[in-house]
Amino acid sequence: MVLGILGSGSGSNMQAILDAIDAGTLDARIALVLSDNPGAFILERARARGIEAGVIDCGGFKTKFPDEAQAATAARLKEAGVELVCLAGFLRLVKRPLLEAFPRRIINIHPSLLPRFPGLEAWKQALDAGVPETGCTVHFVDEGMDTGPVIVQESVPVLPGDTPATLHARIQTVEHRLYPDAVGRVIVENLKC
Ligand code: GRF
Repeated sequence: MVLGILGSGSGSNMQAILDAIDAGTLDARIALVLSDNPGAFILERARARGIEAGVIDCGGFKTKFPDEAQAATAARLKEAGVELVCLAGFLRLVKRPLLEAFPRRIINIHPSLLPRFPGLEAWKQALDAGVPETGCTVHFVDEGMDTGPVIVQESVPVLPGDTPATLHARIQTVEHRLYPDAVGRVIVENLKC
């Protein structure tokens, strides 16, 4: 299965997918990595591995993902032969132009037990709410914010003395196992179709 990755930040989840491919536990190839943030480390990680990496031009909008940018992104992914799109810390809402190009073929990892704490800094939302556990979720992407059908989720305890940073780090450790595993499941399901 040919993967395309969209990310805005560090790209540790993309790295986890790459590591699983290298280890032979995930039968896939990353063909293209795109970011809306030209300075994102995810682009450096990709280039260091010889993976094609590029910037999505959002026309100067800070948070919006304009339709033209989504259509251009879909075209680049298709040109690269991408079959499954993995959002990995991508901070813009994906809408129809991209969703229609990849029906049920866009997935995301979110750092909470959805439907609780959608949106930004979910680990901070969990701390503020005082819950004893939170977690992470891999889900199909639909037009809502972190609302698509859940593929898999796993809980992570909130420990006394946790800060947003320590809690996020504990969640990420689980994410790095869960995301490659979920990508593998989606691939197997798609092969059955
Ligand atoms: C992860 O915690 C993911 O759940 C969230 O954004 C973060 C991205 O981290 N959507 P990274 O760029 O993969 O390191």
